[in-house]
Amino acid sequence: MRQHVNPLSKNFNEIERLPSFSEMFHDSKLNLHLDVGCAAGEFLFDLALSNTNWNYLGIEIRERLVNNAKLKVLERKLKNLYFLFGNANNIINDCQSKFITKNVKSISFNFPDPWFKKKHYKRRVIQPEFINILSNLMQKGSLIFIKTDVQDLFDYMDYTILNNLNFKKIDVNEFNFSESFNPNKVQTNREKYVIINELVIFESIYMKI
Ligand SMILES: C[S@@+](CC[C@H](N)C(=O)[O-])C[C@H]1O[C@@H](n2cnc3c(N)ncnc32)[C@H](O)[C@@H]1O
Repeated sequence: MRQHVNPLSKNFNEIERLPSFSEMFHDSKLNLHLDVGCAAGEFLFDLALSNTNWNYLGIEIRERLVNNAKLKVLERKLKNLYFLFGNANNIINDCQSKFITKNVKSISFNFPDPWFKKKHYKRRVIQPEFINILSNLMQKGSLIFIKTDVQDLFDYMDYTILNNLNFKKIDVNEFNFSESFNPNKVQTNREKYVIINELVIFESIYMKI
């Protein structure tokens, strides 16, 4: 399977019809967490199984991964987990998805593709315009979590988010994870790999103010 997909390809311009919350989740009133670039979704399966008081939504640009994850949700009869296929930027930019952004309690960007070459920076999922849309729609107090093992990417994401004056940084060491979408600090696949290989993890949390 292809590891890197160009999110700017016109293949991703069309967005599938977005289901309503009641089609996605059994109890649409639960707190909602969005994971952007969720790959095969293992992280979200772990979370959804252990935190049944949260709804989890994953967006992933590799269609086969999303189709497999959707089948697994049906097999396991999970009612608090849903996956959307597509470029997260296009999905969130689309006016159909305003109800998602307005209702999320938190969004995670875990180990997004770094796109090391400068000419490819525009393929990075975190973009000023994207953060601007999030900042206009997210509720005050809702959170953005970022994690990466690439310092240059971390600096870029941190700068881009803080350049938007509607977000302030929260001290990760003081943050009370027990009431968050990830109370048991479940690790993503990339995070497990990074820890085994003793690489540094750069992470930050931002609050919409
Ligand atoms: C390096 S992987 C990290 C996967 C997972 N979050 C983890 O921590 O193990 C980045 C993932 O983001 C997906 N991705 C990249 N750009 C995206 C975009 N614009 N919209 C949705 N998914 C995207 C990639 O296909 C890939 O699955």
